Amino acid sequence: MEKERFNRLIEEKLGNINLIVVSNREPTVHEFSGKKIKTTRSVGGLTIALEPIMQNLHGTWIAYGSGSADKAAADDSGKIKLPEGEELYTLKRIFLTKDDINGYYYGYSNSILWPLCHIVYRQPVFDPHYFEVYERVNKKFADSIIEEINNTGPSKDAGINNAEQSKYTENIKINNIKQSKNTVVWLQDYHLALCAKYIKEYDNAIKTSIFWHIPWPNPEVFTICPEKKELLDGLLSNDLIGFQIIYYCQNFLRTCEWELEARINWADYTVTYKGHVTKVMPFQISVDAKNINDIAMSKGVNDIAENIKNNDIIEPSYEYLALSVDRLDYTKGIIEKFKAIDRFLEKYSKFQGKFVFLQLGVISRTLIEAYKRFNDQVLNLAEDINWKYKTGDWYPIVQFYKQLDFQTYITYYKICDVMIVSPLQDGMNLVAKEYVMSNVDYKGMLVLSRFAGSAKELKDAVLVNPFSVECFADAINEALIMNIREKERRTVKMQNIIMENNIYDWAYNFLTALCMI
Ligand code: F6P
Repeated sequence: MEKERFNRLIEEKLGNINLIVVSNREPTVHEFSGKKIKTTRSVGGLTIALEPIMQNLHGTWIAYGSGSADKAAADDSGKIKLPEGEELYTLKRIFLTKDDINGYYYGYSNSILWPLCHIVYRQPVFDPHYFEVYERVNKKFADSIIEEINNTGPSKDAGINNAEQSKYTENIKINNIKQSKNTVVWLQDYHLALCAKYIKEYDNAIKTSIFWHIPWPNPEVFTICPEKKELLDGLLSNDLIGFQIIYYCQNFLRTCEWELEARINWADYTVTYKGHVTKVMPFQISVDAKNINDIAMSKGVNDIAENIKNNDIIEPSYEYLALSVDRLDYTKGIIEKFKAIDRFLEKYSKFQGKFVFLQLGVISRTLIEAYKRFNDQVLNLAEDINWKYKTGDWYPIVQFYKQLDFQTYITYYKICDVMIVSPLQDGMNLVAKEYVMSNVDYKGMLVLSRFAGSAKELKDAVLVNPFSVECFADAINEALIMNIREKERRTVKMQNIIMENNIYDWAYNFLTALCMI
């Protein structure tokens, strides 16, 4: 649906909802650059998807303030209106300590939940301290949400005694039980699995939901998690839990069946636990399809395309350009892709000297040992492959790990001949959808991993099992030699599918499902 229709429907059907979105990652980061403050838009599927929704609903977005100038750029309560100059929604920042970040973000979220949920054969690091910090930080987020709902009145240390404080808190609670009817809390992702529990303990009437952006594993895998009961208990405090695809919903329900004495209703996908009913539903996240399409057809993109020919990111000359855009992460299948490129050049040797693969992206989570090792592996493997094939000024793999602006990414999507999105496991992968919407001249073709959530919708891509080097190499060849009519036929089909379920449909479906509970 178009964003105007989204706004109208939200207003007609949901009235004036007070939407509070909560995520770890903030949409905009402020960093000191000398004495000046530099503003950067965050990368990553979650923030890119939610930003247009927040701009339209004018809600409050609570997130961790990670930038060096985040405090300086915000007011005393950590708030700032965004986007700068337009002021369409409020970002409320939470500030965390180094210990918080180490235990909650690098520790529990990304050394335990991330490998556990993605099942890519990296053993989670079950350090009990991580969970203590994860609980503490989830409580901090919950306190900030409750404070936002209350929004008025002195805090505990504002000079009133305990008796006054509890009377005051009671009054606030009464007011808020009325207020909370319109307040909708929408938590995002695996960083915040426990948050709903604390919110409900404060006021059971606050509608609370979570969208889990990453996969949910099968119960056989989840069972090894020492804190499995606490995580499920926290998640089941929500009124609605959204997953990307039905398969993850089924995994979650089976997990609840295995691990808890909970009643599962398989007919309507609900879990009754400790007297509370939680609805579980799939919602395939998407992109602002029309906006991407418009950018891809704009003059700005054509100008950037001209510059790309002359810039120094791609040094070797080429006839065929293959592209990937990934966060450097072991779930993204980068090693498997490099091996497939090696095999492709061996098997389809006529492409040697003519084919260049460009890996764009950003370095990520580098304080975690598994990421450090992975980054080294990626660099070493690319170097080996480049040494194996290089002749004159040509070599096949070019890597560039620095964030570019959105228009530039769209330009690369538009000019490449093959786009490779090959995660070993991925909740959705919005890069695949961005690419399809940018392929306005049907110049290229998407090679897509069967294990990305987006493969359930984008069935007309060249689908691939990234674990099979041979099939992967063949898929690259198939996409490269595909004739333009076939590329057009498949791309138009995929573009229609994305247009029919864009980011506004995703948000509308989620919010209406929540408000109907
Ligand atoms: O896939 C889950 C997700 O939260 C994405 O939205 C995003 O691409 C990524 O993880 C962000 O990771 P981080 O915030 O750790 O950089």
